[in-house]
Amino acid sequence: MVFSYLNSSLSTISNNVSKKTQNLLIEILKCGPIPRHLAFIMDGNRRFAKKLSVRTVEGHIRGYHKLEEVLEWCLRLGVNTVTVYAFSIENFKRPKEEVDGLMKLAKEKLDYLCEKCDIINEHQVRIQILGKLDLLPRDVFEAAQRAMKLTAHNTKAVLNLCFPYTSRDEIAASVREVTVKAQQGKISIDEIDQQIIEEHLYTRGCPPLDILVRTSGEVRLSDFMLWQCSKDCQIYFANVLWPQFSIWDLLPIILSYQTEHPNLKRKHLASR
Ligand code: FPP
Ligand code: MG
Repeated sequence: MVFSYLNSSLSTISNNVSKKTQNLLIEILKCGPIPRHLAFIMDGNRRFAKKLSVRTVEGHIRGYHKLEEVLEWCLRLGVNTVTVYAFSIENFKRPKEEVDGLMKLAKEKLDYLCEKCDIINEHQVRIQILGKLDLLPRDVFEAAQRAMKLTAHNTKAVLNLCFPYTSRDEIAASVREVTVKAQQGKISIDEIDQQIIEEHLYTRGCPPLDILVRTSGEVRLSDFMLWQCSKDCQIYFANVLWPQFSIWDLLPIILSYQTEHPNLKRKHLASR
């Protein structure tokens, strides 16, 4: 009862509530169970650009700034692994101008994230680039390697940038690695099971995915985290374009996760 009241109130609170109130709500939510791993399909950048009558790349730039903001909210909440879909392998089929613009933006922001970004430094975030990195242009590939190397010592949190990524490619890459190990006699064919495939996914070492959020109102997964979201993961489709995603969209999702959490459900039932 209290939860559903809070949930509906949170989603109607306007965006201009002060930072102080945001912090207070974050502190209240932190009293409950906090998900360890959140993933986002950051969808809607081009529609946002169109709405503003600006160039497509401007939509992606606004999308990048939203990513920084969302990462900070997650870290302040205590979520320690954040995974985002920054570029699908399929996105290479988009117009050259857009792909080039996205690559330029990625290179620039990867350099910034690992060298100057306060959020990354303050919260000691390790950056991982997940995907088929050899599809990237040379300079972006090198920026990705540098970002991973320069933040490798950070141990408190992880930002996974999936870039260029698809789930089916990730699963195929895992199967390939496992097969090579079997050919080399390091594991036997009989040992190959779900756990081994999972241990060779790009997300190896990350906590299980608790929440997947897709923005823009599209209701599909677009080949993202298909393996990871198949078990005990809550999936949310937010009807807002990614650059417009606000903390008032995120907090009800966390609250809903908490109300579904087995520990809280048990307590709630016991008190009835
Ligand atoms: C999806 O919206 C968004 C993308 C394909 C790109 C997302 C990339 C960023 C936010 C920046 C990434 C930054 C780094 C550092 C790698 P869309 O283009 O599909 O928009 P639409 O759904 O309105 O067409
Ligand atoms: Mg899209």
